Amino acid sequence: MLENVNVENLILGPTFEEMLHPERIDPQVRRRALEAMRADPLDPINLYNITWKDPDGRIRYEVLPEELTGVATPIVVLYSKDFPTGSHKVGAAYSVLVEKELYGEVDPAVHTLVWPSTGNYGIGGAWVGCRMGFNSIVVLPEEMSRERFEMIEFYGAKIIKTPGSESNVKEIYDKTWELRRADPNVRVLNQFEVMGNYRFHYYVTGNTIVELADVLQAEGIGRGKITAFVSAMGSAGTIAAGDRLKQVWPDHKIIGLEPIQCPTLYLNGYGTHDIQGIGDKHVTWIHNVWNMDAIMCIDDLECKMGLQLLTEEAGWRTMIDRFGVPEAKVRKMAAIFGISGVCNVLGAIKTAKFYELGRDDVIVTICTDAIDRYHSVMAKLTEQYGPMDEVEAAIRLVSIFHKQKLDWIREATREERARWHNLKYYTWVEQQGKTVEELNAQRDPAWWEAEQAKVAEIDERIQEARRLQAGLR
Ligand SMILES: Cc1ncc(COP(=O)(O)O)c(C=O)c1O
Repeated sequence: MLENVNVENLILGPTFEEMLHPERIDPQVRRRALEAMRADPLDPINLYNITWKDPDGRIRYEVLPEELTGVATPIVVLYSKDFPTGSHKVGAAYSVLVEKELYGEVDPAVHTLVWPSTGNYGIGGAWVGCRMGFNSIVVLPEEMSRERFEMIEFYGAKIIKTPGSESNVKEIYDKTWELRRADPNVRVLNQFEVMGNYRFHYYVTGNTIVELADVLQAEGIGRGKITAFVSAMGSAGTIAAGDRLKQVWPDHKIIGLEPIQCPTLYLNGYGTHDIQGIGDKHVTWIHNVWNMDAIMCIDDLECKMGLQLLTEEAGWRTMIDRFGVPEAKVRKMAAIFGISGVCNVLGAIKTAKFYELGRDDVIVTICTDAIDRYHSVMAKLTEQYGPMDEVEAAIRLVSIFHKQKLDWIREATREERARWHNLKYYTWVEQQGKTVEELNAQRDPAWWEAEQAKVAEIDERIQEARRLQAGLR
């Protein structure tokens, strides 16, 4: 099974099954991993901490207060600040790398890894690549937040800056081709293209949310079913969780989000924006657009102003004193949100209103990172508009959250889905070397099902590599 793999060179991590169910990890390994979580976050044993669950096996989620969302439908966020690196993107990076290793495509003794990214995937790649023994280079736009650059260097990777900001992904692609041409031992791990990213979210995130439905019902929230999953696309890895949810609940709705300032799927649009991590001006290869039920767009300034409301003193006071949000919830929300997390919540509010969902429905969405990445962005906001006082905070809560409008919504039709699919042609066939036959194959649900089914095969390869390594010792 592992004919072309130098197993002795590999530093192995968890299977997909173990990321979903960390209680199934060998108890000694699990204990060492939990100890290292705080004591030594750079120890590779932390690969076993890539999971949505806490040390007691509970899913990390928060039910948002109606006083904030303004809708009766519970909006529940899965948050990822406690993953190694502080973002679940580390799971996508790990899954992409471990698959390549186990099919003999990369070897730490030979290859240098290149992680094209606008931030968190690069941070994840820097962490994972270096922990698994690879030289790693992260390629990202020069205008991304200062905090991102600092983390990548701290984890031990090199940085190459490309011109522009979040939506300048073409420039990143061009640089990766240049690196590939210059050195035959460079391997590019492209999150927009490689299905390991899809599989992490389809299997680990998707099934975690399936479990969450029962956890919520036991708390009196919903009826054991998730009505809609809302996710702003960067690589469109996260939204793959929706593919799993739709298999469990066929009438489940998958809602994709984009910035109004760069409405690519919504309007074939382009533009720059400041919701870091999403809106990358193309339809990614791994995005199953045939399964998406609507595209909605969110304003980038509203996301930043909403984040300031959730993370600064005047916002906390306003939520507690004027709107009656319990203080513990306010403190928790301050710790789990980044800009795209606010975008996801605004999209969830739009979803609740648009589909006229009720109290028994449940919408799930995601916080991909937290405020630690955005202090510099918040400082810039204050510099531009002045400090936010309690009056301003109250206005923001009502106008941005409660009064989120039903504009910028496009429901999927057969034609609309075909248009999203067809947009892939320009990036993937014209620029990135895919064939028309490969693109056409994605029209068939069986193509996606075959990719989903590989989870079991990859897990078996990881187990086999472990057995071989044990034999070498
Ligand atoms: C902060 C942030 N939000 C959202 C996303 C989008 O997630 P995905 O790439 O899985 O679509 C990313 C991706 O890097 C991100 O960094």
